[in-house]
Amino acid sequence: MSFNDNTQSVIVGGTSGIGRAVADALAQRPGTVTRASGSTGLDIADPQAIQAWFEQHGPVDHIVFTAGSQAPGGSVEEVDVEAAKAAFDIKFWGAIGVAQAAASHLRPGGTLTLTSGFLARRTVPGTFVKTAINAALEATVKLLAKELAPLRVNIVSPGLTDTEAYSAMDDEKRRQMLESTAAKLPAGRVAQPEDVAAGYLFAIDNLSMTGAIIDIDGGALIN
Ligand SMILES: NC(=O)c1ccc[n+]([C@@H]2O[C@H](COP(=O)([O-])OP(=O)(O)OC[C@H]3O[C@@H](n4cnc5c(N)ncnc54)[C@H](OP(=O)(O)O)[C@@H]3O)[C@@H](O)[C@H]2O)c1
Repeated sequence: MSFNDNTQSVIVGGTSGIGRAVADALAQRPGTVTRASGSTGLDIADPQAIQAWFEQHGPVDHIVFTAGSQAPGGSVEEVDVEAAKAAFDIKFWGAIGVAQAAASHLRPGGTLTLTSGFLARRTVPGTFVKTAINAALEATVKLLAKELAPLRVNIVSPGLTDTEAYSAMDDEKRRQMLESTAAKLPAGRVAQPEDVAAGYLFAIDNLSMTGAIIDIDGGALIN
């Protein structure tokens, strides 16, 4: 669907990192872009808050969901289950709550684009929670694409991307992590938020794309 002055786009997670880059890119087009997150007053761990938010802001044409980058590490045996459930409440159940709202608040021709991550399909011990959340979302997006058709539903799967998700790290350790990952990746670089944002624009613009997983991971899955 082409963009015009009435086009409404919502980026849940649009205040930081990848979501902010998507929102900034869509803001260059005609229409209105709304960024929603905890700091703008929407807690996506609260399903009723999601419904209320969309009742107030709908109808909309494009919804992008990038919220919730944090999850506890640890093996399946050792993981902090309460922290894991809290991470699921934000990224997995938050995405499902937004998909439920999308079903009734997206206009014909609309799109929903979710976010997973390369750990969905890469077996790295100690990353169980991220793997489980992202794999669950990738499976669900294919069901959603059928159930919500002709609305289009896709998912972008980033690899390591240089965002505020790592702002709690010591600067030097963060720099070393980014450089050592870049050196190992086939693409020879770690993605910037704008690289990953391009995947969401592709999903929104390509009228034949639905049920797709778009990998933008520097080659992490073929490593
Ligand atoms: N960066 C990477 O290396 C990487 C790799 C693979 C996958 N991904 C995935 O890509 C997505 C975006 O990651 P990112 O690096 O851009 O993350 P980020 O910079 O940390 O941004 C996360 C966003 O989520 C929002 N958020 C967190 N909790 C929320 C809540 N309860 N309610 C509403 N909003 C909430 C934050 O806003 P507030 O603080 O205002 O709530 C922020 O806008 C995530 O799904 C992440 O798992 C990232």
